[in-house]
Amino acid sequence: MMNNPLSGAIELKHVYKSYDDTPVLKDISFVVRRGESKIILGGSGSGKSTILKLIIGLEKADEGEIWVDGEEISTYNERKLMEVRKKIGMVFQEGALFDSLSVAENVAYRLYEQSDLDDEEVESTVRKTLGFVELEDAIEKMPSELSGGMRRRAAIARALVGNPKIMLYDEPTAGLDPLTARTINELVIKLRDLEGVSSVFVTHRLKDAFTMANEFLGHQNGVLRYIKEEEGQLCLVKTRFLMLREGQIIFEGVDEEIRRSQDEYIRRFLS
Ligand SMILES: Nc1ncnc2c1ncn2[C@@H]1O[C@H](COP(=O)(O)OP(=O)(O)OP(=O)(O)O)[C@@H](O)[C@H]1O
Ligand SMILES: [Mg+2]
Repeated sequence: MMNNPLSGAIELKHVYKSYDDTPVLKDISFVVRRGESKIILGGSGSGKSTILKLIIGLEKADEGEIWVDGEEISTYNERKLMEVRKKIGMVFQEGALFDSLSVAENVAYRLYEQSDLDDEEVESTVRKTLGFVELEDAIEKMPSELSGGMRRRAAIARALVGNPKIMLYDEPTAGLDPLTARTINELVIKLRDLEGVSSVFVTHRLKDAFTMANEFLGHQNGVLRYIKEEEGQLCLVKTRFLMLREGQIIFEGVDEEIRRSQDEYIRRFLS
C-alpha cells in the first residue's frame, strides 16, 4: 500500500473487536488528522485502551481497517508492525517503566532497539528528551526514587525518543495532583504546537480535555507561553473530542459542541 501524504495520521474504519465473544468495540470509525489531538473520553471499560492497542498493533481487530500514516496495518505481521511502531510513541496506562533500569536506560531502551546510534549519540538524545520533559536532574535515578509525576514524565520521555510523529497517551494524568497534571497537559500541547505531533489522548479528567482544547503555545510580546484562547478568537481547532460508550462512539466534535450537548449520558459525564 502506498503512503498517501494527504491521508490522516490515524484512521479507523468500521472496526470491531471482541474478547471471548464479548463485543468491546462495535463499528468504530474516526480520523485523527495530521497535527490534531483527539481526546477520547468514556467510562471505565468502554474500550479506550483497546483502541490504542489496536493502533499500535498490540491487539488485532476482528473486522475493519486501521490506517496509520497512510498504511493499512490490520493485516501486518510482527516484522512490519515493528516498522510502524517506530513512528508511534505510546504512554501506557500504568506509565510502566522498567524498574531495574535507570531513567536514562529506560529512555534509551528504544534507541538501542530501533536505531544504530553510537553511545554518544544515544546519551545526547536521552539528555535532550529528558530536558524536554524537565527531568534532566533525574537522569541517573531509578524509577523507585521518582514521584508519581516524575514517573509519568519519564514514561513520556521514553515514548518521545526518536521523535515519533504520532503519540498515544493512555490516562497520563491519572492519580496526579492538579499542578502535576497541568505540566503533563502542557507537554502534550507543546508537542502538538511546536512539533506538529498527532495524538490520541485518553482521559477521564475533563480538566485535561478542556485545557488542551482551549490553550495553545504561542508567542505573546515576543515570549513563548501557554495562551488561553479568548472567546471568539480565530484559531485553528487542533483538539477534538470523541466519547465512547460501551464500545460505540456517541459523540465526536469540538469542546463547545460537547458542552452544549443535550445527550443525557454526556451531560451526566460532564457534570
Ligand atoms: N486482554 C483482554 N482480555 C479480555 N477482555 C479484555 C481484555 N482487554 C480488555 N478487555 C475488556 O474489554 C473492555 C474494554 O477494555 P478497555 O481496557 O479498552 O477499557 P477502558 O475504556 O480503557 O477502561 P479504563 O477506563 O478502565 O481503562 C473491558 O470490558 C475489559 O474487561
Ligand atoms: Mg484503559
